[in-house]
Amino acid sequence: MPTVDLRSDTVTKPTDEMRKVMASAEVGDDVYGEDPSINLLQERMAELLGKEKALFVASGTMGNLVSILTHTQPGDEVILEANAHPFHYEAAGAAAYGGVQFYPVLGERGVLKDTDVQKAIRPNDPHYPKTRLICLENTHNRGGGKIYPLNEIEKIRTLADQHHISMHLDGARLFNATIATGIPPSAYCEPFDSVSVCLSKGLGCPVGSVIAGSADWIEAAHQIRKRLGGAMRQAGILAAAGLYALDHHIDRLAEDHRRARALADAISQIPLFEFTPSTVETNIIVLPIHNSEITPEDVVSRLQSEGVLTLPFGPGEIRLVTHLGIDDDDTAHTIQIFQKLFSHEK
Ligand SMILES: Cc1ncc(COP(=O)(O)O)c(C=O)c1O
Repeated sequence: MPTVDLRSDTVTKPTDEMRKVMASAEVGDDVYGEDPSINLLQERMAELLGKEKALFVASGTMGNLVSILTHTQPGDEVILEANAHPFHYEAAGAAAYGGVQFYPVLGERGVLKDTDVQKAIRPNDPHYPKTRLICLENTHNRGGGKIYPLNEIEKIRTLADQHHISMHLDGARLFNATIATGIPPSAYCEPFDSVSVCLSKGLGCPVGSVIAGSADWIEAAHQIRKRLGGAMRQAGILAAAGLYALDHHIDRLAEDHRRARALADAISQIPLFEFTPSTVETNIIVLPIHNSEITPEDVVSRLQSEGVLTLPFGPGEIRLVTHLGIDDDDTAHTIQIFQKLFSHEK
C-alpha cells in the first residue's frame, strides 16, 4: 500500500490534465499586464467572489500580507481570532513589514462573535492604537475546518461599519465552506472589503492565491505586491492551473468532506480519540488524544511507520486533512491502520 499523506491539503500534486493545460498556457509579461491567462484568472475570480477586481499572488501568506498592508498604516491594530493563520504561521509579516499590531481574541473553534469583537475595538483616544481592520478566517484551519456562520459575519460587519473599520477574509479554504453550505462565494465575501483565496490547497494547484476587492483597493494592493517582490512575469503557467481548478476541482471538494467524515466516524469510535464526528464540517479533522502519556508525536510516528502521514497539532492533538490525492481506498486503509494500532489503547 502506498503512503497515505493526510498532513495537509497543500501536499497535492497537479493532475495530468492540470499539467497539460499548464504546459500549453498562453502567457505574456504580467508586469506589463500582458499575461492573458493571469488576466482571465483575475477576471473570473473577481466575478466569482463578487468583487470589482482581483490580483494573483504567490501564496496565501502573501495574500494576507498584501491585504493587511493595503488596509493599514504603521501603528494600526488588526483584530483577529487567537488561532488565526496570520497570527501563528505568517512569521509576523504584518509587524515586520507594516508596523502593524495584532489584537488576538480567543473564539470558539476560530469563530468570533460580534460581542467578542466589540470588546477589542479601541476607544478613540490618543493612548490607543487605531483599530483599522478585522480579519476573519473561513474555513478555520486551527478550528478544525470550522465553517464561519454567515450571520455571525454579518453581525461583525454591522459593528465594523459603526466604527469605520475594514474587514478582510482569509479564505484560504473558502470553497470548502461554500461547497459544504451551498452559500455562493460572492455571498460569503459580500461583508468583506477584501478577500484572499488559495489555489494551492483543496483546489490542487501547485502555486498561488488570489486577492480581491474594489478597483481602488486592488490598485493599491498591486503596488504593495510589487514592493514585496511578488510581481511575476510569465505567471500564466500558474494561472492556467487555477483556471482549470475553478472548472474541475471545486465541486469535488464534497468528496473530501465525505471522506473526512468517514474517517471521523470510524476513528471517533476508538476510545483514545473519542470525539463528536459531526464537528468535522469540511476536510480537516483535529483528533484529541485522551491519554497524556501518549504524545501527538508518538501517535504520528506510529502511524508513519504504517505509511499514514499526519501532523502533530498542538498539545494532545493531531491533524488529518483530506484532499485531491486521497481516495476511498486510502480512507479505508487509514481507518484499518488506526484500528490496528490504537483500538486497545486507553
Ligand atoms: C487559513 C490559512 N491561511 C493562509 C495560509 C497560507 O497559505 P500559504 O501556505 O500558501 O502561504 C494557510 C496555509 O495553510 C491557511 O491554512
